Amino acid sequence: MTADALLRVEGVSAGYGDMTVLHGVTFAAQAGTVTAVAGANGAGKTTLLKTILGLLPAGAGAVWFSGAPVTRCSVSDRIAQGMGLVPEGRGLFSTMSVGDNLRLGGRAAGVGGAALGAAIGEALELFPALSAKLKVPAGRLSGGQQQMLSLARTLVASPRLLLLDEPSMGLAPKVWSELLVLIRALAGEGRAVILAEQKIRPVLEISDHCVVLQRGRVVFTGAARDEAAERSISGAYLETEMVTGGDHG
Ligand SMILES: Nc1ncnc2c1ncn2[C@@H]1O[C@H](COP(=O)(O)OP(=O)(O)OP(=O)(O)O)[C@@H](O)[C@H]1O
Ligand SMILES: [Mg+2]
Repeated sequence: MTADALLRVEGVSAGYGDMTVLHGVTFAAQAGTVTAVAGANGAGKTTLLKTILGLLPAGAGAVWFSGAPVTRCSVSDRIAQGMGLVPEGRGLFSTMSVGDNLRLGGRAAGVGGAALGAAIGEALELFPALSAKLKVPAGRLSGGQQQMLSLARTLVASPRLLLLDEPSMGLAPKVWSELLVLIRALAGEGRAVILAEQKIRPVLEISDHCVVLQRGRVVFTGAARDEAAERSISGAYLETEMVTGGDHG
């Protein structure tokens, strides 16, 4: 395992009550890279991102961030250290304004006062469409704009590790392609991005590494644009496809 990784997940098991969902998950992510987390519906992608952030405790194994173990740190501690999550379903406060949602993102990470204004200004530079809508309730934005807001809210805290859970959900293909380009650029600025998606093909094109989960176990880690990744993704999705006729991009 690489010594200089920003994030290291080592033998992590986690779940809900008596049900273990993740079994000994191990992978690492470097600053400046995008890691795609692939897996069919229910494979454990969301559970993995929640365990990295500390929303779920790791029953076994360890999470290392920036060279130190954070397995016993609280969520707010991990956010203060530089982790940020854009949750599945966006997690916006739909009756609150765009501006208030952004302010909450900063405050959750302990950013206040003048620094908060500056951080919001910086995040808005990436999403000019939101600047004109600061007073609009978040629930009135289009799906694409809501996804931008969810991402902008997380960026207000200047995370070094960006965890993205199904950001494509509800987006038109063109908006999703544009967002993927932006995500790549966010990694290019020195962040580590972990991007969990069911429809993984377009994600692989902007990713460096790929982690494939099948029923909570890692069945592949390696280069994203590699035949071996292709093969394990096809295998990992096959049983779900046979049941649902699903399409994974
Ligand atoms: N809050 C919960 N309580 C109990 N079981 C849960 C809970 N959340 C998820 N699970 C179960 O854990 C397993 C993994 O779920 P998870 O949400 O991590 O999968 P996923 O890969 O993110 O799927 P999707 O692609 O649908 O988002 C599934 O069997 C799911 O039913
Ligand atoms: Mg999920």
